[in-house]
Amino acid sequence: MSEIFALVPAAGCGSRMGSELPKQYLQLAGQPMIYHALLTLCASSDVKTVFVVLAPHDMYWHGYDWSLFGDKLQPLFCGGATRAESVLNGLMAAELELDDWLLVHDAARPCLSHKQLAHLIEVSRDDEVGGILAVPVADTLKRADAECRIVQTENREGVWQAQTPQMFRTGLLLQALRSAPNVTDDASAVEALGFHPKLVTSSASNFKVTYPQDIELAELLLANRK
Ligand code: C5P
Repeated sequence: MSEIFALVPAAGCGSRMGSELPKQYLQLAGQPMIYHALLTLCASSDVKTVFVVLAPHDMYWHGYDWSLFGDKLQPLFCGGATRAESVLNGLMAAELELDDWLLVHDAARPCLSHKQLAHLIEVSRDDEVGGILAVPVADTLKRADAECRIVQTENREGVWQAQTPQMFRTGLLLQALRSAPNVTDDASAVEALGFHPKLVTSSASNFKVTYPQDIELAELLLANRK
């Protein structure tokens, strides 16, 4: 029977944060940011192993204590120049079976809840293609010009914001990422092959920490959860 694995690409430098320290290691609620997503993924009894893809010359990983996660957590020092390349390198290094399921989750989404993860797994494991957590867009969407002036109001009907985790069979993801190396999420690569992944409703709490002010919001959400 196919098993479920998780892979966390964490080889980026997080330039939009304006910090020397890569984003995944910034302090958030007393731990490096990546710790929180790893805690949720490792706590899932559905997930067999959680792989973390780090930059080949990552100098920070070994400076923290990961012992809580035991053997369930496996670091792979094979990150690439882009997120997609990091995921692909990690997939090849992890040596999974082609029909195993893989949950790809960004280190920069620390507020993923156990419930959201369980819901994604429950819906996607019975799907032919796989699924991703996502939320329907609630705000009105504006297209801007170079001077930040509104050019047009976009139709938000049927528009969703993609989140992670994104869950696909290893074989499909390998094929997809090999043929579309410049995508910003895994689903885009799968879509480029002509497939239609399932949108699994999540909530705004699983947002991506991108700018410095996002840290405070993430800390509030995590504190509230405790
Ligand atoms: O920069 P952004 O927030 O879109 O990155 C999403 C995820 O991809 C982060 O967890 C980041 O560490 C990872 N990434 C990576 N390898 C890269 C670039 C980004 O693993 N070369």
